[in-house]
Parts: sequence; C-alpha cells; structure tokens
Amino acid sequence: MAGLIPQDFIDDLIARADIVEVVGRRTQLKKAGREFKGCCPFHDEKTPSFTVSPGKGFYHCFGCGAHGTVVGFLMEFDHMSFVDAIESLASSMGVEVPRSETSQPTRRYDELFSLMDTVARHWQSCLKETQTAVEYLKNRGIDGPTAKRFGIGFAPDGWSNVLDKFGKSEEAIEKLLATGLIIRKDNGKHYDRFRDRVMFPIRDARGRTIGFGGRTMGDGEPKYLNSPETALFHKSRELYGLYEARQALRHIERLVVVEGYMDTVAMARHGIDFAVATLGTATTDEHLNRLFRLTDNAYFAFDGDRAGKKAAWRALENALPHIREGRQVRFVFLPDGHDPDSFVNENGADAFVKLMDAGMPLSEFLIHELSTQVDMDSIDGRAKLAEMARPLVNKIPTGIYRELLTEGLAAAVGLTGQKLEMMMTADQKRNDSSSMIGANRVRVWQQPNASGGPSVVRRAITLILNHPEAGAKLDIEKLAGIQRAGVDLLSALIETAQSEPTITTAGLLERWRHDEKGGHLGKLAAVDVPVDEEFDAAAELDECLQQLALAGRKERIEFLIEKQRVMGLSDDEKSELRQQH
Ligand code: UTP
Ligand code: MN
Repeated sequence: MAGLIPQDFIDDLIARADIVEVVGRRTQLKKAGREFKGCCPFHDEKTPSFTVSPGKGFYHCFGCGAHGTVVGFLMEFDHMSFVDAIESLASSMGVEVPRSETSQPTRRYDELFSLMDTVARHWQSCLKETQTAVEYLKNRGIDGPTAKRFGIGFAPDGWSNVLDKFGKSEEAIEKLLATGLIIRKDNGKHYDRFRDRVMFPIRDARGRTIGFGGRTMGDGEPKYLNSPETALFHKSRELYGLYEARQALRHIERLVVVEGYMDTVAMARHGIDFAVATLGTATTDEHLNRLFRLTDNAYFAFDGDRAGKKAAWRALENALPHIREGRQVRFVFLPDGHDPDSFVNENGADAFVKLMDAGMPLSEFLIHELSTQVDMDSIDGRAKLAEMARPLVNKIPTGIYRELLTEGLAAAVGLTGQKLEMMMTADQKRNDSSSMIGANRVRVWQQPNASGGPSVVRRAITLILNHPEAGAKLDIEKLAGIQRAGVDLLSALIETAQSEPTITTAGLLERWRHDEKGGHLGKLAAVDVPVDEEFDAAAELDECLQQLALAGRKERIEFLIEKQRVMGLSDDEKSELRQQH
C-alpha cells in the first residue's frame, strides 16, 4: 500500500487524470481511432509503436514492451518516485494530496465535494428568500418539489458573496478556486463566478455535486454559465439529470437525451423522469457508454430546426459503434420552434411520449438523411449513396444489426445486400491493416480454442482488468473454495471493481502496484481486448466464472471419490458427494 496516501484518493486521481494530456505534453501523440499513437519515448524508433489508451488509462509500446498507467509513466519518464508522481499529478490537477498519520485521513477530494455540497445548499436557501427567482421558476412551470428534487438554487447578485462566506482562509480560497466557484484576477484578487443566476447543481453518479450551471433571469450573456473543467467536473462526460433519474426510477427502461437543463427539469415536472441533458456539448462516446450501461433504449430529442438536425446527425455518427442487437436508438424531432421544455409545457407528457414512440429508428434516419443528399433516380446518385454509407456502416460492429441496415441500404440503392456488404467490408479490411503497427501486434484477445489458448483464470483476469465495469453483477460466490492458481487474485480484482464502480484499468493496476502478484497484471492489461459493443465482456466473464465453478466442482467430486476409496468419508462428506452427483 502507498504509505499514508489514502487509496480512495489515488483511485480518484487516476480515474480523473487525463493520460493523453500528461503523456502528450512529453511526447507527440496523434489520435488513431479510440487510442493515441506516437513514437515511443522509452526507446529509439522512427515508426510509431507507442499507444495510449484513454479508455484504459494505460500506455503500451509494441516495440519495447514498456507499459503502465499515468503514474507509471511519470515515474519512468520523469524519473520520479511513486509518491512524487502522485504529488505531481495531483498538483497539475489542482488538488492536494491528503496526508495523515491518523487512521482516518482527511481527503482533499472529499473536502472539495463537501464544499460544493455546502454551497449548493446555501444557494438553495437563497432561492427561498428571493421572490424574483421563485417567480422566474414558477413562470417557467417549475414547482417547489421539482426545484427541490434537482437542488435548484439562486446565487444572489454581488462580486463576493461566496468568497466572503466560504473563503475565510488561504486554504478555503484555494478550495474555492479548485472547484471553480471563484475566479482569480491578474492582480491576485478574487471574485464570485456565479452572480444573480438561477443555479442548477450537476451531480455525479453518487449524487455528489460536481459542478453548476447558472441561468441568467434576463437577457444577459451568456444565458447559461457553467462551472469550468475541474478535478471534479468533466463536462463532456456528464449527463445532467442522470442521478435524479436513477433516484426516481427503480428500473430504467429508456433514457431520452435532451439539450438543456430546463428540458430535463421540465420533463421531470411532468412525470417524465428519464430525460438527461448533455451540457451544451455534442453527444460523446463517454455519454453513450454511460447511457447504454443503464438501458438498451436510447432516444435523442432535438429541435426541429436545421441546428437540431445537425446535432442529431452527429449523435448518430457517435452512436454507430455502440449499436448492437437488442439496442434501440431513436431520433425524436420536435415541431418547429419547440424544445422539449416548451413542448411538454404546452402539450403535456403524453404527447411527448407519443412523439418518442413515433421516433425515427437510427437505420431509417441514416438512410433517409443520405437519400435526401443524392439524386435517388439516377444510378450515379445511388452509387454515391452507397459510397457515403460505407464509412458509417463500417462503424457498426458486425452482427445482425449491421446486416439489417445493409439490407435496408441495398434496397434503397437497388443492389443486393451481399454485393453492398462486399463493397463495404473490402473497405474495412484495408482500413484495419493500415491501422496496424508493424507485424508485432501480437497481444490480441484470444478466444479459447481446441488447441488451448490462455487458461480460464488468465482470461478472466484479462477481462476484468480491461473491463472493470463488467464485474458489476458477477456472483463471486461462484469462486468460493476453488483451489487454483490466480483465483484469489481474480476474486480480489472483481471485488474491487464491484466496490469501486468507477475504477478504471489504470486504477486496478495501481492498487496492485505494491503487491507481488501485481507484476504481470500490466502485461494482461495491455492485451487488446475488444471494446466494441458486439463484445459482451460481462457475459464472457460470467462464462469464465461458470467454467471455473464447474471445474472446481469436478475437482471436489474427484477428491471425495478418491478419499472415499482410500480412507472413507465423514457423514457430511458423504451427503455432499450424493448432492454433487
Ligand atoms: P439552449 O440555448 O437551447 O437553452 O441551450 P435552453 O436549454 O432552451 O434554455 P432555456 O429554456 O432558454 O432556459 C441548451 C443548453 O446549452 C448549454 C446549456 O447546457 C443549455 O441547457 N448552454 C446554452 C450553455 O452552456 N451556455 C449558453 O450560454 C447557452
Ligand atoms: Mn428552452
């Protein structure tokens, strides 16, 4: 374990650190698909074989085999000790490493979370005292209980309300700065970021306030002011209202993605508890990962205007890699001049749900949009459509959905599905081979086959390392009592992934850094496990556990039979053997 630095802090730090940014500051990286590539800073090379995976929080060189987490990188590259690497990372992210001799270390992250919470509650009480703000919300159709549920507050006018109340010491001011609640001027003085605005707290999956959006009640600019990126808040990852949706619903059957704070709140006010908003950004991969972890039915609601269509198209492009059988993505377009907020206020919840049910399936939207861009009556036009569809279809993981979409496209252009698919996969193969670096990309995920393949335990460890989220629902009881090398480590990894739902590959590796078993985990983390949606890591892992459990039972029976032969069994063992048979 890492001396006096609390493990939670290290986990949080690694999960929030941007490995691409840290490595990219020291060696040049280029985006290549999901990963980033560059020349390896640890050995001399001319063609890039150094890969950084932001998803895993992990770097790996296919040339010299160097690999590790962001902490490992700092240690290797800047020749730092572990503790120095943690310190350096923390300071670049504006947090302080908590240190304590006591058994209950103070945690700087906790302090930042608790500050955010205190300020949120302060602004809630300010709202109650500010008639104009209450009126504003009422006029917008938001009632008290809804405002309360979303923790809506009001930041009074003035340059130093928060500063005076919560920044009474140097340390307190540092915390206000780290959370983005105040701004430092060139002359070293500070002032409140949020003034005279209705405040919407943005909460993370655990309900902790990580940022705010503040709306002006007049025509001031900007209309919404948001918290800056901080150690707690990463705008492109968050979905506003997701925590509240999970609180309200026992089972999330579907989620609808809307554009604004007010859209989410207005829908909730009308009983639609499953609306989440992106925070003024396009729908990102991280949004979609989050969404599809909770539901198979995603809807995107956009304004009916051109900007809305454009945003919808971008959402479509980003959603393609996430599609697979059983998942539904629909696009809902609102009548001109409406956003979900105004629509639901004018027409009610049922009308909105009707619109959702009538939403356009992704496949239809794709084909429809492309066909409006070409002359479908000419052969050239239809060939052009096939050409435009190709890169899009190739983003979809192979499987039934892709086949069906290809059929649909083929029908639209008047080709056979087979022919169209051939055209498209030819393109894909070219792409794949050009993205491979050298011939030494050997560590790819191997399914077990007749000639062996990696052992089940090894496979399971590789899976949990690469997909910690896949451990969430596993029953590790299945592993109880199995005597096999590595099973202990496997259970411990799964348990950690379950108790820390946000832990990343890098986080797991760092937990085992000081453990003798941790040595070869890095190699397994570098294995190229598929990340496409076709690949169900949780199901694979469950399968591994089943196999282990089965093998464990078999071994136990063999043991009991042998013991019976040699020295006889106790009564308990006899009944155990009877049950197993
Ligand atoms: P919109 O301009 O569509 O606003 O911005 P809205 O949601 O309809 O807001 P109301 O109904 O006028 O109150 C959509 C989203 O874009 C981000 C916010 O997240 C907003 O909810 N945005 C917009 C900003 O961050 N800053 C802005 O100045 C405007
Ligand atoms: Mn609006």
